[in-house]
Amino acid sequence: MAEFKLPANSRITEGKTYGQVSGAKRAKTFQIYRWDPDSGENPRTDTYVIDLDKCGPMVLDAILYIKNEIDPTLTFRRSCREGICGSCAMNIDGTNTLACTKATTSVNGTVKIYPLPHMPVLKDLVPDLSHFYAQYASIKPWLQTKSPAPPDKERLQSVEDREKIDGLYECILCACCSTSCPSYWWNGERYLGPAVLLQAYRWLVDSRDEATGERLDELEDPFRLYRCHTIMNCAKTCPKGLNPAKAISEIKKMMVQRTL
Ligand code: SF4
Ligand code: SF4
Ligand code: FES
Repeated sequence: MAEFKLPANSRITEGKTYGQVSGAKRAKTFQIYRWDPDSGENPRTDTYVIDLDKCGPMVLDAILYIKNEIDPTLTFRRSCREGICGSCAMNIDGTNTLACTKATTSVNGTVKIYPLPHMPVLKDLVPDLSHFYAQYASIKPWLQTKSPAPPDKERLQSVEDREKIDGLYECILCACCSTSCPSYWWNGERYLGPAVLLQAYRWLVDSRDEATGERLDELEDPFRLYRCHTIMNCAKTCPKGLNPAKAISEIKKMMVQRTL
């Protein structure tokens, strides 16, 4: 019988509990994944009890409060605090999302926080996104042209052509979708995953781009594109409300159309 157990040195242990908030009207418990590669210890979950009246409304506000006031060793990424940079992506209450746009009160009971799933962890809530970014670079995410640029103006688009990149250009590359995709979990070395494929489609559908054929050639591969099985986790989890699965199906359609 198959046994699904983590290796002994990966099993998560129970860590420390911090913060007693006597008299707080809005006490909330946070259980947060911790792992320090320098300690040689197993990962653990630490528990922090804080008074929500002492910090802002979002999960990011709460973990910044924990870091500043209780435990400076807690490590995570953040920058814009308004859903634009994608840095604070993590798994909160079982869903990949942005800590800065997730209201603490939207979570019933203990707020459980883990790093984005199925990525190597550098420390605590910080995943190693090197491979993800290398995959992004591989699709050449910039305008490629062959014809000379107009001497006196930009390359223009009609309003209709510009609208074709709506629902695509808003992607902030937070990786919430790719790290929720079972196909990416199992084949992430070779499958590009929903975020990178959505970005690939953003350039395929841009009326100013003149490398459509080459871009499709690069994607014509049993792994890079065709590992998407329309499971739809990606669209469900995207904190920007985008639909990578739809973009992937549009790429597949373009593949078929060019053979007709
Ligand atoms: S499609 Fe959505 S979830 Fe995926 S990387 Fe872009 S913004 Fe993040
Ligand atoms: S629809 Fe495709 S890309 Fe999205 S989660 Fe499913 S397999 Fe992954
Ligand atoms: S801090 Fe920039 S998206 Fe959350």
